[in-house]
Amino acid sequence: MRRLIGTVSGVFALVACSASNGASTAPSSPAAPPSASSPSVARSASAATAGTTGIGDPYFPGDGNGGYDVTHYSLALAYDPGRKHLGGTATVEAKAVQNLSQFNMDLHGFTVSKVTVDGADAQFDRKGDELTVYTDLDDQDDFKVTVAYAGTPEPVRGSANLGTYGFVPTADGSFVTSEPNGAKTWFPSNDHPADKATFDFRLTVPEGVTAIANGELTAPPKTEGGQTTFLWRESHPMATYLATMTTGKFSVRTGDSPGGIPVYAATDPRYDGVLDNLFTESGKITDHWSKVFGPYPFKSTGGVVDDFDAGYALENQTKPIYGGFEPDQSIIAHELAHQWFGNSLSITRWKDLWLNEGFATYAEWLWAEDNGQATAQNAFDQAYANATDALWDYPPGETRPDDLFNASVYIRGAMALHALRVAIGDDKFFPMLKKWVADHKYGNVTTEEFIELAEQTAGRQLGDLFDAWLFERTRPPKVG
Ligand code: TRP
Ligand code: ZN
Repeated sequence: MRRLIGTVSGVFALVACSASNGASTAPSSPAAPPSASSPSVARSASAATAGTTGIGDPYFPGDGNGGYDVTHYSLALAYDPGRKHLGGTATVEAKAVQNLSQFNMDLHGFTVSKVTVDGADAQFDRKGDELTVYTDLDDQDDFKVTVAYAGTPEPVRGSANLGTYGFVPTADGSFVTSEPNGAKTWFPSNDHPADKATFDFRLTVPEGVTAIANGELTAPPKTEGGQTTFLWRESHPMATYLATMTTGKFSVRTGDSPGGIPVYAATDPRYDGVLDNLFTESGKITDHWSKVFGPYPFKSTGGVVDDFDAGYALENQTKPIYGGFEPDQSIIAHELAHQWFGNSLSITRWKDLWLNEGFATYAEWLWAEDNGQATAQNAFDQAYANATDALWDYPPGETRPDDLFNASVYIRGAMALHALRVAIGDDKFFPMLKKWVADHKYGNVTTEEFIELAEQTAGRQLGDLFDAWLFERTRPPKVG
């Protein structure tokens, strides 16, 4: 246990600093008299300070929190689609990374009825999307917080050029897609991909409704008094935005991929006709990526097609979701590639989003190439020919917070990878992808780390290539 006395150590640091600068002669200004520091010594037995209200991502200053790292979430939640009412308890296991007098969690809406820290009632308050918990924890303490809460979830509507996201109530349940910061619309969390954790879900819904979360069912669903409870566990670290609690009427097919990976596929009754195709393609494509990118990082794969007309898909960990359309092979290949790029390897800051979307888009090109439809070079040529000025004006290597999911992050991000492949050759490019995935499995990554690996692989500097494709606001020359 390390207790720092803030004010006093600050004075010491200042003194030490001026002494070292002052050669061996007398310091130009005298050290503070001892009396000046005594009040603070008397006041602070411990220098516990507040955890910050954000994790430090300049794009979303309120997202995530400072002062602790979450290791595990246990979400015991009941959802009633008829009343659009969600309630229950979130248990969050975490480690303090500083002495903490208080810390925050991200939570939007709901009434919080009770908070405990290590079993004892804790004071808390709410302000905006922050839940503040008052406590007294030492640096490196492991602690357990429970938050009891209930209410009607309010999804995030159309900020940062995004559609509606988070916990979206539907006619028969919920459609839950939380990228980039919608986890706070359904559970209290450190809502930022830099803090990944494992998850347990205990989800209760009316009988006849299916509750789908990440990972695997740990027991058969149990019905009692008209309510069915589903126990799911994601045993690998997961970013909060990839957590899901999708509920409703679903047809389900389970089994194994040809390569032996368990597959869970579910479709809203409106999409029953695509269940077998979703099951088969998801298994087949997961097997394929396991050969190209290295072993599948999770224990099961699959997909969910819901009737909520989102018009988009999200790579929810182990269970990508498709909102209101029949997914083709290309989008299934995209969402499943995210299991490696985005989910196992997660970004540290949102500015690096091309590490998710550029890679998943390049995977679409690889899928077509591997199936003899068109080469990645064909796809690159077409993207280059179709590119508008907007694509060249938006450098994907540093996304814009108000336009995070710009087409450039996807397409020019994929073009950057193709340019790299052309520059270093297939013999180096594909092993490099596998090394990237293996070196950072279940972790967090940055663009700088990727560039470093690329240069190490190439045995030469690639600054010009990455500047041209990721960072400059001009059209690079065609490659290939
Ligand atoms: N990551 C998704 C994809 O490329 C797109 C996406 C961004 C999204 N934000 C979202 C999907 C919010 C659903 C909800 O596949
Ligand atoms: Zn994507």
